[in-house]
Amino acid sequence: MEDIRNNARQKMKKFCRVCKICDGRACAGEIPGMGGLGTGASFKNNVNALAELYFDMHLVHGITEPETAISLLGQPLSLPVLAAPIGGVAVNMDFGVSEEDYNLAVVEGCLDAGTLACTGDGVPPVIHESGLAALARFKGRGIPFIKPWEGAELDEKLEKARDTGCKVLGMDLDAAGLLTLRRRGRPVAPRTPEQLADIFDKVHAWGIKFILKGLMSPLDATLAVEAGADAVVISNHGGRALDHTPGTATVLPEIAEAVAGRVPVLADGGVRDGGDVLKMLALGADCVLIGRPVAVAAVGGGKEGVARYFARLGDQLRQAMIMTGTADARDVSRSVLHGLSA
Ligand SMILES: Cc1cc2nc3c(=O)[nH]c(=O)nc-3n(C[C@H](O)[C@H](O)[C@H](O)COP(=O)(O)O)c2cc1C
Repeated sequence: MEDIRNNARQKMKKFCRVCKICDGRACAGEIPGMGGLGTGASFKNNVNALAELYFDMHLVHGITEPETAISLLGQPLSLPVLAAPIGGVAVNMDFGVSEEDYNLAVVEGCLDAGTLACTGDGVPPVIHESGLAALARFKGRGIPFIKPWEGAELDEKLEKARDTGCKVLGMDLDAAGLLTLRRRGRPVAPRTPEQLADIFDKVHAWGIKFILKGLMSPLDATLAVEAGADAVVISNHGGRALDHTPGTATVLPEIAEAVAGRVPVLADGGVRDGGDVLKMLALGADCVLIGRPVAVAAVGGGKEGVARYFARLGDQLRQAMIMTGTADARDVSRSVLHGLSA
């Protein structure tokens, strides 16, 4: 992994320093780039909220081969982890690789690791086109995310996503905060519950499930579920949509409780290793997404880099599960976290 990271550092030049700990400090405010918006507080809070949690060790048990596999909306995954959608390799990563090569590396690397990639969207069109092309090449085995475009553009892009053969697709509603898109005359916007229900109905009529990403409050998550979302992602877009939000791990427990048992709850932001994955699961997530570290692995090592990143993550997760007495990723107790009760 060190060679992969060194290679990525060369290719991403000043846009990503590939820091030892990817915590949003060195790149604060760097958008375009890999940073968080403004002061970078939201990105930093994601990392800090996880870093402030500690494990209680439990070793008097017989768990030696913990189960890490889960099923998410009918899709089997070897780990409770997906690659987060990342769009805009050219503007955010200094053309370290082409958009096409990047998407192929992430989609194929994830499949090799037994998990799935989400693909991103943005301006120019090559961003969503190369993501969708990579998914189509692998029979739609992945999850395309489309931005909340206004007008006919949304329908057009949802239809293109459907045509990849995907079984699940998603929308990053928090992209409504990406002012850069509006400035370029390509508005994205929040949606009312009624408007969301129309979008979900349309996609459900194709036999495809819908994940809504970018929710940070129990109320939004509840409204999304009532409107018909099949899963929600607790996310602040890696701190890129609004400055000064809490870390996602801070708001996750109350949101997970609000929609408990109704839909799978996913979460992302600041997840860096297998221990962080277990922390998110203990706080109520069913599955986790990882953004920047997967991007670094893809730019530095292509599909092998991505597969290797997930292999190491799986080893770390299994070790953390054994050391906390956790037998199954589908049933993680809050009590693995120090000071929290089950
Ligand atoms: C350069 C960059 C581009 C992104 N593009 C998208 C995108 O197109 N669609 C989307 O839903 N999220 C996008 N995100 C947000 C990620 O999907 C994810 O929510 C975030 O990166 C998670 O935080 P982490 O990077 O700390 O793991 C992007 C993030 C970054 C850093």
